[in-house]
Amino acid sequence: MEITVVQGNITELKTDAVVVNLFEGVKQPGGGTGAVDMALDRAISNLIADGELTGKEGEIVQLHTMGNIAPKRVVVVGLGKKEKFDEDTVRRVMGGVCRNLRAKGVRKVATIVHGAGIGGMDAGQAACAIAEGSLLGTYRFSKHRTTAPETGEIQTLKLVEVDDSKLAALEAGVEKGKVIAEAANLARDMANEPANYMTPTDMAAMAERVAEESGLEVEVLDEIQMDGLGMGAIAGVAKGTHQPPKFIILRYRGAGDGADKNIGLVGKGVTFDSGGISLKPAGNMGEMKGDMSGGASVIATMGAIGKLKPKINVTGLVPASENLPGGAAQKPGDVVRAMNGKTIEIENTDAEGRLLLADALSYGRKIGLTSMVDIATLTGAIVIALGHVSSGVFGNDQDLVESVIGAGKEAGEKIWQLPLFDEYKEQNKSDVADVKNTGGRPAGSITAAQFLSEFSEDTPWVHLDIAGTFMSSKTKGYVVKGATGVPVRTLINYVLSQAEE
Ligand code: BES
Ligand code: MN
Ligand code: ZN
Repeated sequence: MEITVVQGNITELKTDAVVVNLFEGVKQPGGGTGAVDMALDRAISNLIADGELTGKEGEIVQLHTMGNIAPKRVVVVGLGKKEKFDEDTVRRVMGGVCRNLRAKGVRKVATIVHGAGIGGMDAGQAACAIAEGSLLGTYRFSKHRTTAPETGEIQTLKLVEVDDSKLAALEAGVEKGKVIAEAANLARDMANEPANYMTPTDMAAMAERVAEESGLEVEVLDEIQMDGLGMGAIAGVAKGTHQPPKFIILRYRGAGDGADKNIGLVGKGVTFDSGGISLKPAGNMGEMKGDMSGGASVIATMGAIGKLKPKINVTGLVPASENLPGGAAQKPGDVVRAMNGKTIEIENTDAEGRLLLADALSYGRKIGLTSMVDIATLTGAIVIALGHVSSGVFGNDQDLVESVIGAGKEAGEKIWQLPLFDEYKEQNKSDVADVKNTGGRPAGSITAAQFLSEFSEDTPWVHLDIAGTFMSSKTKGYVVKGATGVPVRTLINYVLSQAEE
């Protein structure tokens, strides 16, 4: 879908469909919707009066214009209650309406700029949200099908604006929205990809491609180099598989070498999690091809940052491995030594994500990162706590936690904080090593985060547990069944906000 901004009157544009809008409860539409209503002899107000059009969020009512105005169809989308309206409403509504029009075979779409000037939203933000919602909502993962999808793609989406003083802001908003949505869609592609097509080696190749496209530095450490650095926790996980592990490093330098700030993003890259010797049950095990979603979000975010060029230094780290129960696999009771020297008793080989992150966070400290945000599909327990609605967040620096939560709010990605009280650390005590990799069933997401804190030590650090949000079982708004791309858009906002501080 090609998205552009055009100056003109919506009623005079020759196109397959124009999208206008309606807030819930409005009887006499104004703005672009009002102009179309007038041009169509009050067809829209009549539908409202007859109760066939209510403005409820996501409602889609379509009219054929029968040659009375230039566009072939008018689509009225409901924006819901005005008090609840924000950028995420625009994203959701555009996702839904674009899928709807695509299914009808519509190829050329125009839209008014929903939300510009309402509730503090400026033209650029509205345009950004329109681009994001449209590109996210029409995402499909079809590369492994040998038959084409029944419906082709929407070819063009034009944002139509009469006032030419707004065009530059709209264009900038569309450009930003494209970069953000394409990054989220790249993370979705990586996570939807079957594990036999997304091994640690494939992930590293993807990171190299992204680096090339976005002008980032990239380095991929192999098993021998990782061994030389003392990354014994990653090595332990990788023992059970024939796929060699990779440690992926992406660097973006927007603030130059002398900058005192170098922020880190660290993503769990388990390309398939069978549980290892502590084997998972067979049901839905295939979902564990997405256990590299945290790592994918880091690679995709770094790519977007390279394009958006904020003035800040950012380093992305992705420890990548499969977790399989091969003959050489590590066993419950084994002890490994992480890069920071701490020893870990493996109580359960299925708690592998925290092992990869232990070495990655140690590495981040060693290279002098001034703060780290890690992202991981870490615990089933977070799904019990927060369901599929919100990611969990933890951290040792409240300001940093709040800036991540704030970045999530802007993105429409919900994040809820859980506590890191010292008492929870007791559960990670081992009889034979410094710590063990599981803390029992109670507060399983918190003990996992406490485990990570042994390796982030005193570096300002935030941990995002996305096990409940990396995938969706339903298509709705801009969310498409399968990988969600969470929390790529949050991370991009976070980096941009850190650059402004
Ligand atoms: N990758 C899983 C967590 C997960 C579960 C992600 C469901 C997405 C959906 C993680 O490696 C894992 O297996 N965690 C264990 C930890 C336990 C053994 C302490 C869990 O949550 O059961
Ligand atoms: Mn696991
Ligand atoms: Zn896992």
